[in-house]
Amino acid sequence: MMTLQELQQEHASSLAALEAATTQEASDAVRIRYLGRNGLIPALVKQMKEVPPADRPAFGKALGEWRAALEKALAAKAEAAQANAAPVAGFDVTLPGRWRAEGVIHPVSRVIEEAAEIFHRLGFTVADGPDIETKFNNFTALNTAPHHPSMDASDTFWFDAETLLRTQTSPVQIRTMLENQPPVRIVNPGRCYRRDTTDATHSANFHQIEGLYVDTRPVSLADLKSTLGYFAREMMGPGIGVRFRPHFFPFTEPSVEVDFTCHVCKGKGCRVCKNSGWIEIAGAGMVDPRVYEHVGYDPEKVYGYAFGMGVERIAMIKYGIPDIRFLYENDIRFLSQMR
Ligand code: PHE
Repeated sequence: MMTLQELQQEHASSLAALEAATTQEASDAVRIRYLGRNGLIPALVKQMKEVPPADRPAFGKALGEWRAALEKALAAKAEAAQANAAPVAGFDVTLPGRWRAEGVIHPVSRVIEEAAEIFHRLGFTVADGPDIETKFNNFTALNTAPHHPSMDASDTFWFDAETLLRTQTSPVQIRTMLENQPPVRIVNPGRCYRRDTTDATHSANFHQIEGLYVDTRPVSLADLKSTLGYFAREMMGPGIGVRFRPHFFPFTEPSVEVDFTCHVCKGKGCRVCKNSGWIEIAGAGMVDPRVYEHVGYDPEKVYGYAFGMGVERIAMIKYGIPDIRFLYENDIRFLSQMR
């Protein structure tokens, strides 16, 4: 049997241990250690008969006081814990939270938002135009020859002889220049429509981002190259490869096509890039003087470039999407991977 002094020390250290307990588990451990069925206090009660009769009253009193003090401290601790846990009556913090289905931004919208942000840094603002266009804005003012095959009913959705679903975002160039004097510096994301047969990389309805920069100070093909190079690295990361190939568009001269390295296969060749390692992302070039004439700009006094990029193409290589149709099926198993 311990001495009276040792007993008082145990009394003090049990209260200190409880004081130090910060969790329910720790308080329970203190209670079990001292007051439990095999705890120290019941064990000492059993040992009382070993205490010399003369000392028994003092021991009994000390033990009783210890038990009472510890029980009181435990009750106070429990009350404080409850006050903390339930600041509002009837509010049970231990209930699981309500599950809320969270949507994701569609990859096409994501690319458009990011592109607008990147071009904004270069001083471009976002312009808008309608999906239903005039023949003048979509073809004639863009210097497209009257019987160009792209105007054929097998390529373009016509409403009547003068109205159509735009086949490109380029008519927004015309709208912008008709309404503004240079300098103009805009990008325009939007839907385009073509009578294309759907396959892994084609869809009758797709998105483009048009860009137009026209100024009264010299603007060159080198400016176009550096702008699209900057865009490619910002959008795809510094490792992206970009190449410019000579091409022809009625509304730009000279014209180029712009390819990015295929990120799906990292340039090795796959279905998305048709085994070439490159994906055609944009058409671009220096605005043709004939276009300036159509919008009333003096071709001798202005310089400018234009580009039109395929949004789905960018989304496919950025997110490794092997088939354009995934972008339109709205399959939740696909979209939920876009978090
Ligand atoms: N409108 C062209 C297309 O759809 C792309 C383009 C835009 C090319 C601007 C040159 C300048 O293919």
